[in-house]
Amino acid sequence: MASKLIAPSILAADFANLQRDIEMINNSDADWFHIDIMDGVFVPNISFGMPVLRDIAKHATKTIDVHLMIIDPDRYIKTFADLGSNILTVHYEACTHLHRTLQAIKDEGMKAGVAINPHTSVNALEDIIHDIDLVCVMSVNPGFGGQSFIENTYKKVERLKEIITLNNANTLIEIDGGVTSKNAEKLVEAGADVLVAGSFVFKSDNPVNTISKLKEIVNT
Ligand code: DX5
Ligand code: ZN
Repeated sequence: MASKLIAPSILAADFANLQRDIEMINNSDADWFHIDIMDGVFVPNISFGMPVLRDIAKHATKTIDVHLMIIDPDRYIKTFADLGSNILTVHYEACTHLHRTLQAIKDEGMKAGVAINPHTSVNALEDIIHDIDLVCVMSVNPGFGGQSFIENTYKKVERLKEIITLNNANTLIEIDGGVTSKNAEKLVEAGADVLVAGSFVFKSDNPVNTISKLKEIVNT
């Protein structure tokens, strides 16, 4: 079985020491950088934008997984490709023509992801599953780090895994929000491939160790 991945969320990093935190991830067992872009419209918060991503990409030596929590993401697909994104995830709820958006992301040479809010059914993705490289299942309402994990997520992940398997698709399942060492194992059992972790990593005493422990939990 392919190894399960850990993607620390930069949202919980110390932005006054961003290079230090990026190098910590470079030198850890983490697999990806998870980068949250919020526009203050799709979600009730504003995170950071292009200049910050550009500088993160300068130092990061691992896959850059960008999670766009913005309306009308089509406007910025090329920009995010040019900034160094490897995976670009848009919200199902923000895309009127999701199929077209996913093709546009792939045309720019990136992997295409779709994020779904807690209220969105995974069944809505059935007819488009072959076009999605990654589904980001939101296990909190998007917009903020440090929120509690929504328990209904396990059920959604199981059903999504079923859809992927039945359709012979290669889509990865990513979980985003409230991930800790307490729910990591159960999430992987349900079918998750990638776990995003923000606060649990950055607010811990030893983030490098925390990442290693998570990585071990999901791969044993
Ligand atoms: C929430 C973001 C998450 C967030 C996760 O809207 O999409 O990526 O950083 O943070 P934690 O792990 O603290 O819930
Ligand atoms: Zn995210």
